[in-house]
Amino acid sequence: MRTEQLLPDQMGMARAAILLAAGEVVAIPTETVYGLAGDARNGRAVARIYQAKGRPSFNPLIVHVPDLDTARTIADLPPEAEALAAAFWPGALTLVLPLRPDAGIASLVTAGLPTIAIRLPAHPVAQALLRLTGPLAAPSANASGRISPTSAAHVLDPDGGLEGRISAVLDAGPCPVGLESTIVGWPQGRATLLRPGGIPAEAIADALGQPLDSHKADPAAPNAPGQLTSHYAPNAPLRLNAADPAPGETHVAFAAPGPFTLSETGDLTQAAARLFDILRRADREGRPIAVAPVPDHGLGAAINDRLRRAAAPRHRVFSVAEIPRGES
Ligand code: TXA
Ligand code: MG
Repeated sequence: MRTEQLLPDQMGMARAAILLAAGEVVAIPTETVYGLAGDARNGRAVARIYQAKGRPSFNPLIVHVPDLDTARTIADLPPEAEALAAAFWPGALTLVLPLRPDAGIASLVTAGLPTIAIRLPAHPVAQALLRLTGPLAAPSANASGRISPTSAAHVLDPDGGLEGRISAVLDAGPCPVGLESTIVGWPQGRATLLRPGGIPAEAIADALGQPLDSHKADPAAPNAPGQLTSHYAPNAPLRLNAADPAPGETHVAFAAPGPFTLSETGDLTQAAARLFDILRRADREGRPIAVAPVPDHGLGAAINDRLRRAAAPRHRVFSVAEIPRGES
């Protein structure tokens, strides 16, 4: 299959909507990262998403909705969820909520769980497309375990990308946030951070008027977010908290100039937006990568989470027994 490259104009959007209605999978822009979208009500389309990514089918997907009312037809929103939706939607926040029995969502989306991850994205192209298609299941548009794509070129990357594995990519330029959404759920009844991401945990705690619980290991819980320890992985080994590079290393700088700096000025928003592109470019140098320390507050917490996973021992092929506990 040749992957069609579509522009985010009326013709491109209409073409994307036709492909999606026919059960095809299309990579779409969101403000966080590119998503690999399929009709969330069509089990065959959802199966194609897992297949194109090489993703284990016990790792459930996020459903993207055009508006809050659609979210309410799919899941039950308790008062705290309504408050977070009011504060952060549309935007880089995913809520894991009780799935409504009459939601009409393909069971493969949730991997059979009683909960569903839902997000109302802020990207205007994603919103316009969702109004044409209805709910779209969309994980990040990378091969499973690889670095998430923040541009259409990343999606089609000849080195491990999805060119030829998906029907089309809708190209709306680089993603402004650059990190996946923050995921919040209520696994034990209390609002819990399941994955740090594009909205700082501090902002969510402010909106709730109380801190978020941090995610505790629960062997019975689903393997959620980025949940496999090694994730977002470049080909090269990656060393963390490297103020200075050793000879032969490619240095990713922070708050300092350089060919691979996350932000010359130490701006965490800029660093988040550049992170995945810089990791991909640094990887192409073909040498070990050393990343400077990044402050751990605000968006820095999500940046450091992704860097730790990029540095973790690799296990791209695994059996269920090998899935690390404590990674949810
Ligand atoms: O920003 C984002 O969130 C991007 C864009 C495309 O929206 N999507 C994204 O999807 O990062 P993905 O599939 O790469 O990550 C979603 C995570 C997965 O790790 C999955 O395990 C978790 O959400 N998840 C999905 N449904 C869940 C559920 N019912 N309970 C717990 N975790 C869930
Ligand atoms: Mg992903």
